[in-house]
Amino acid sequence: MTTNIPVIAVDGPGGAGKGELCLRLSRKYGFAILDSGAIYRVLAYAAIVKDIALDNEDELANLAANLNLEFKEIDNQVAVLLDGENVSSHIRNEQAGNAASKVAVLPKVRAALLQRQRDFQKLPGLVADGRDMGTVVFPNATAKIFLDASAEERARRRVKQLQAKGLEADYDAIYKEIAERDQRDRNRPVAPLKPAADALELDSTTLSIEEVVNKAIEFVATKIK
Ligand code: DC
Repeated sequence: MTTNIPVIAVDGPGGAGKGELCLRLSRKYGFAILDSGAIYRVLAYAAIVKDIALDNEDELANLAANLNLEFKEIDNQVAVLLDGENVSSHIRNEQAGNAASKVAVLPKVRAALLQRQRDFQKLPGLVADGRDMGTVVFPNATAKIFLDASAEERARRRVKQLQAKGLEADYDAIYKEIAERDQRDRNRPVAPLKPAADALELDSTTLSIEEVVNKAIEFVATKIK
């Protein structure tokens, strides 16, 4: 990257609180957000709709290269549009996350999505949310944060979120899915989930969101003047 447009890279497993942290950082600095997980989720969704197997690397890479995807604010929320259709409700569930994690293992798929993610780096700056923002997509990011939390705590948070929406939530099933997804994301050969060498590592297991945000902002302030 030859630009000095600031990027705050926030990586970590699902459920650690990255989404909320990214939102708070984006408000503080007036930066846009790249939700890279949503891109993998939409790709997996598009593949299922088109009946493409989630391990068919060549077809998935071709689909990724031609994905007509757009993020758009609708009713104060960021909606994800695929071919102009709002697919947000289809991609924000456990099943879609799991499918995304499967297509995300494939190197040709990751390569096909690389430039698309980098194109989000625009003035005044970007908060990039994902698994490999600080390691692969934006290796020269201005500030890198790796936000983790125990799988047990992340499962408890997910259960609470679902219950708050009035939905059924089975802790054991959710814990199992989280553990499986972690295993796949952390152990894949290309762009595995791991902290960049120069990332601030935060463990949110016993921290409130305010504590996480304060620590992150303190760190980012040392990097963005
Ligand atoms: O952050 P998320 O739960 O929306 O991500 C869904 C899946 O997408 C995640 O399990 C792995 C994959 N992913 C990835 O491989 N690289 C990213 N930068 C973001 C997500």
